[in-house]
Amino acid sequence: MESFYITTAIDYVNGSPHLGHAYEKVLTDVIARFRRQMGDKVHFLTGTDEHGQKVQASAKKRGIPPQQFADEVSAEFQALLPKLTISNDDFIRTTQERHKKVVRQILQQLFDKGEIYKAEYKGFYSTRQEQFLQEKDRNPDGTWPEIFGEVTEIVEANYFFKLKQYQDWLVEFLTKNENFIFPAYRQKQVVEFLKEPLNDLCISRPKERLEWGISLPFDEDYVTYVWFDALLNYYAAVIDQPDIWREAHHVIGKDILVPPHAVYWPIMLHAAGLPIPKQLIVHGWWMQRGAKMSKSTGNALNPLDLVAEFGADAFRYFLIREMNVGQDSDFTREQFLVRYNSELANNLGNLVNRTLNMTTRFAGGVLPAAEVEEDLEKNLRALWEKTSAELIPLSEGFQFHTALERAMVFLTETNAYIEKRAPWKLGKSTEEKDQALLRTSLATMAEALRLAVAAMQHVIPTSAAKINAVLGYTPGAVWRDELVWGRKLNGAKGESTLVLFPRPQPPEKAPAPAKS
Ligand code: ME8
Ligand code: MG
Repeated sequence: MESFYITTAIDYVNGSPHLGHAYEKVLTDVIARFRRQMGDKVHFLTGTDEHGQKVQASAKKRGIPPQQFADEVSAEFQALLPKLTISNDDFIRTTQERHKKVVRQILQQLFDKGEIYKAEYKGFYSTRQEQFLQEKDRNPDGTWPEIFGEVTEIVEANYFFKLKQYQDWLVEFLTKNENFIFPAYRQKQVVEFLKEPLNDLCISRPKERLEWGISLPFDEDYVTYVWFDALLNYYAAVIDQPDIWREAHHVIGKDILVPPHAVYWPIMLHAAGLPIPKQLIVHGWWMQRGAKMSKSTGNALNPLDLVAEFGADAFRYFLIREMNVGQDSDFTREQFLVRYNSELANNLGNLVNRTLNMTTRFAGGVLPAAEVEEDLEKNLRALWEKTSAELIPLSEGFQFHTALERAMVFLTETNAYIEKRAPWKLGKSTEEKDQALLRTSLATMAEALRLAVAAMQHVIPTSAAKINAVLGYTPGAVWRDELVWGRKLNGAKGESTLVLFPRPQPPEKAPAPAKS
């Protein structure tokens, strides 16, 4: 069994979770569930990033101690996870002792090795990004890009990590590990970024300016720079499991790739003599009205509202179906409703209802075996074979949106098969040939449904379990085997109804009623 360690970014607790955070959790969960299905021993970590200026400022605004503030907001992030059916194994908070201990340990180790020195710093600082800026970060007109928020100039003595001396090492590492960053065009951007000389990294903040952080073990007058602190969460959580650490995959948004995850992080690990993660999986942004959805712009959607209205599976389905991992996507309620109605309610929901209704009506609720295979059945099976051959490679390459699209095409064709086969007509005939075809059609639609569910179960786990249950079916332990067309439902006694994706509101145009 292979280990697979997967993490999300840890969220700042300066505001409530929004749809962008929910997306990252769902995407990571879909990858984690997919890897488990593939037989890997998965360890899935998520958590909250609780130190730094932003959190200190938000707590001050509320007039409560930062720890109390962090406790409250972290609890909100934690409460979101079961609502989204996230299957994480662990949740780390950077205010936990297990994390702080590792941060101090690594800092002391690097300090003892001479990788950290003290010097005067003069320059520009973005509080919103918790980041020192350089001249090259400016817009062509000299202003600072919107993303940095308010930028202030500061002069102070600080501790620096010798980043610059590892620049050549990092370039070589990226050359040797072409797939370190997904999508590949992001890795090219990092290589581009490394054509400019790096500066050493300021890793401290004087306590007069910022109190809310982890004290430097070698100078109590300073706290640790929040990014140096935060990145170490991934390692701190599995400090006692080196085999897991070697299989680390980090899912992050594109805003925190360069420099934190693509530059600081590998260099920090290398300097500390630790293995570098296997991969960074970089997703794009959910936008609203053309701007990145964020706490600071006030255009953020609360994922809990959508989950309350449509259920976790529909929410997960939409996010994964709509977003091509790496690119940006605009969120609109209209588009959500289109997918919900046409793909979940109509395509999947109708197939479930037709299968259950007709099995009850024509076979006493017991799924019959297929007996004859004519062109209609052969064609549907051939389509499944083509579809299933693509599912694993697509999912291994994080093309979950395409895999779902293929599953939907298969569902559409299954519904079309039912229209053409017209079991309700066969049911009126007393000819043995027609009766055999009727039984075959029931077996075929149920088997197609079972297969489509197997293809989508890591995206819609709750609905998948419900559908299998009403089919009287218990999936086997090996997921790959579940993707084989095999008439496994023969003799199964199912339920007669299941309400899966109820209409949230009257649709503009009534769908064609299922002819059953
Ligand atoms: O950056 N669409 O925290 P964060 C998609 N604490 N993803 C989005 C998004 C959007 N509109 N908005 C945010 C931090 N995200 C640091 C991380 S990791 C050691 C420390 C993503 O709360 C964002 O890209 O600002 C990031 O991956 C995650 O949410 C947390 O963002
Ligand atoms: Mg952010």
